[in-house]
Amino acid sequence: MKRGNVKNLGKEKGSGQIIPLNVNGEEHLVAVDDRDTLLDVLRNKLSLTGAKEGCGTGECGSCTVLLDGQPVLACLTLAIGVVGKKITTIEGLAAGGKLNPLQRAFIDHGAVQCGFCSSGMIVSATALLSVNARPSRQDIQSALEGNLCRCTGYNKIIEAIESVKDQK
Ligand code: FES
Ligand code: FES
Repeated sequence: MKRGNVKNLGKEKGSGQIIPLNVNGEEHLVAVDDRDTLLDVLRNKLSLTGAKEGCGTGECGSCTVLLDGQPVLACLTLAIGVVGKKITTIEGLAAGGKLNPLQRAFIDHGAVQCGFCSSGMIVSATALLSVNARPSRQDIQSALEGNLCRCTGYNKIIEAIESVKDQK
């Protein structure tokens, strides 16, 4: 079991407990405050910076991760509330350090520009494809409703997801 920032327990304001978190298939022990969000813990204590903090208020989707396969906003999720669940981040989607087909499709279709929204988009699309291997364009648009992109105009993102669908 890996330890993420356990040594700092007691040194941070309000720090209070060590919790086990299963992230991308690995168990970690992490020192957390009751108010720490999952996004804070992933980024600042486990150095998993793929999930981004855009708004911090549940509006942009850039912090999306999977909890037992379901997309959630890590900025609105307390770390202490996800003990015992399987957390998957964008880093966990790349098998053996290689981009998976959906990640590759985003690059190949020009769906990544500044990239700030990309991990949230890909995680949301992963959740969709796990339950619907051949989603319609409307299905894809619905799945991405909570994910904002300021750069691409969304068409390239949808085309990237459709290209993976068409491979199945
Ligand atoms: S950072 Fe979580 S929704 Fe924007
Ligand atoms: S690629 Fe820049 S916000 Fe989406």
